Amino acid sequence: MSHISPLDYARENRERFLDELKELLRIPSISTLSEHREDMERAARFLRDRLSAIGFEAETIAGHGHPLVYGQWLNAPGRPTVLLYGHYDVQPVDPIDLWQTPPFEPDVRDDNIYARGAADDKGQTMTFLHAAESLLHGEGRLPLNLKIIIEGEEECGGAAIKAYVSEHGGRLAADVVQVADSGMYAPGIPTIETGLRGIVYTEIHAQGASHDLHSGLYGGVGPNPLNALAWVIADLKDRKGHIAIPGFYDDVQRPADDVLASWRKLPFDLDAYRAQVGARDLVGMQEFSPLERTWSRPTLDVHGISGGFTGEGAKTVIPAEATAKVSMRLVPDQRAEKVFELFRNRVLELTPPGIDLRVRLIHGDDPVLVPERGPFIDAARQALQQTFGRPAVLARSGGSIPIVGVFKETLGLNTVLMGWGLPDDNLHAPNEKFSLENFYLGIDATVRFWQAVGALAEQGAT
Ligand code: BES
Ligand code: ZN
Repeated sequence: MSHISPLDYARENRERFLDELKELLRIPSISTLSEHREDMERAARFLRDRLSAIGFEAETIAGHGHPLVYGQWLNAPGRPTVLLYGHYDVQPVDPIDLWQTPPFEPDVRDDNIYARGAADDKGQTMTFLHAAESLLHGEGRLPLNLKIIIEGEEECGGAAIKAYVSEHGGRLAADVVQVADSGMYAPGIPTIETGLRGIVYTEIHAQGASHDLHSGLYGGVGPNPLNALAWVIADLKDRKGHIAIPGFYDDVQRPADDVLASWRKLPFDLDAYRAQVGARDLVGMQEFSPLERTWSRPTLDVHGISGGFTGEGAKTVIPAEATAKVSMRLVPDQRAEKVFELFRNRVLELTPPGIDLRVRLIHGDDPVLVPERGPFIDAARQALQQTFGRPAVLARSGGSIPIVGVFKETLGLNTVLMGWGLPDDNLHAPNEKFSLENFYLGIDATVRFWQAVGALAEQGAT
């Protein structure tokens, strides 16, 4: 049995850990595009095989959509069990021309690894495997029990894992969930996230005439579904960021005063933030700070409108149909189901003459808050302090991770959201990257977190 400390093992194996991450990043596992189905299976098998190689019992679970990867190491009787969660699917890569290097050919530049999924979430998911391997090699055992579930549909609504949790939730029983799919408030500032927004993602389909029309011969009489979508969308949110859907704000809760006060204490430079956004002006309701707007206020955005002619040159057509993708981000205590009803009713009320609108829910998830105190949060704070040399901050995120709320609702499990992404990692955009420093610190902090959680058993704190 070798006796190398897990942290030394992790340091000595950095190069190989990075090579493994690159191998995973080369698989174009875009969950929302059906032509990548085989890539999804390849990515799932890669993770299963890596889990087996480090000493977990591991399997892929097919059945509902893209496969899940499940693994467990349960040889620490009397110790707590942590359920780890990550996702191996990634977002589409368009606009492809804006990538400096191809999205599925990982490239290391300036201490970052560039590839689709580098930060979201392959790099973060791999920190779990590398931390477990470091402990198992260094000490021959883990200081706690681990279960890990990695899904392939996080970026498109998570239907498969939701079905699995409702049918086989008992198998995932644990003391707490740990998610590495979030970020740090800023470089060098370790962060525990305490809330995620929910989401209602919809599609509005507009039908005008039964067939495309010449816009000269019929312009002025033929109903135009693209114009119609523009009207409807413009009526859903005013220029000050107020969403004009009756009842939409009814359940929005203002965070407690001490929470808002703690956000005000976070370092915040408006010019730097604007530069990070890359826009001259920030939009939204000015009575709320930018952090409040993204962390504790709902919003509505259009992601794409399609229909008619968008090719080179000009074509004078009134298209017969058009579609818009519109989503809303939700905050406590809004509920996805209710918000979708309000949204659909309002859209249908706004239907212009001569147009048929259909509103479809693509996916919906409630917002979630996780505890800010308790033994697991203390263990995370301790691990982060030791690893980053400074205290962790508590923050929320404007993003969504659907399963976190499901774990809470279905299994009664709380989550520690401790992630390694940075605000400028270009998630969902061209040139996504992951900081290698954070990759290696994330592995170290995870090792320390599990050691601290393992020690809780001795203290009788769980
Ligand atoms: N990892 C992100 C969400 C995230 C990013 C949380 C940074 C906290 C900090 C996640 O993969 C994601 O993008 N989720 C989607 C979910 C949706 C498609 C249901 C999102 O938020 O758009
Ligand atoms: Zn993610």
